[in-house]
Amino acid sequence: MLIIVKENYDEMNKEAARLVADRIRRKPNLVLGLATGSTPVGLYKELIRMHKYEGLDFSKVVTFNLDEYIGLPSTHDQSYRYFMDTNLFNHINIQKSNIHLPDGMAKDIDAFCDWYEEQIKKYGGLDLQVLGIGANGHIAFNEPGSSLGSRTRIKTLTEQTIKDNARFFEKLDDVPKFAITMGVGTIMDAKELILLANKANKADAVKASVEGPITAMCPASIIQMHRKAFVIVDKDAASKLSQEYYG
Ligand code: GLP
Repeated sequence: MLIIVKENYDEMNKEAARLVADRIRRKPNLVLGLATGSTPVGLYKELIRMHKYEGLDFSKVVTFNLDEYIGLPSTHDQSYRYFMDTNLFNHINIQKSNIHLPDGMAKDIDAFCDWYEEQIKKYGGLDLQVLGIGANGHIAFNEPGSSLGSRTRIKTLTEQTIKDNARFFEKLDDVPKFAITMGVGTIMDAKELILLANKANKADAVKASVEGPITAMCPASIIQMHRKAFVIVDKDAASKLSQEYYG
């Protein structure tokens, strides 16, 4: 685990974008796992800039997103598909057929989840997975208590996550209660991981993930078992870490 503490959000994004761009340049058909939430927005902006001004080519890149709300069509402005289109996909030269997100409107959710896992395998597995982290230590929508070996499946969101995400909806009741999410085991199978966190409200979760015991009560703590994980955080999110780490 390489923990990199950056001065601020901008620096965090630049570091993460450098890494992602390097992997795309080395392997143009990279299988890239993507995340939603406010954290990776800056990374996506930087990747868009690199595409426009530095020729970063996404034409062969294949993406798989971590999760999606159940019951929101892709046209809903709070669906993760809509988020990805507006924050990244519409601004780069990725082929639509190479984009994969869980389908929150799937009729048979279990069958869909199995299919999603199969698709990841078909492309040879995830090369690099980008992750944010919830204030309670969740990754994707793997809430505390999620099996550390879990695969793509339906999950019920916790009260805290629903409250945290309510800022994006008109009212609390509009926040979906269920999601399809890659499992912790699915994420751990990625060859490389980048976990991003900024702001002081993530400091406890970052400390628990990096320095705490490995426990299903903090699903992100499993990254301690990953062979090649980069934890890129800003100073505020790193403020509760007990050790000095790379700058
Ligand atoms: C949601 C997403 C997670 C994300 C988390 C944190 O729950 N499913 O993938 O990491 O939000 O979001 P934010 O980056 O907005 O704090």
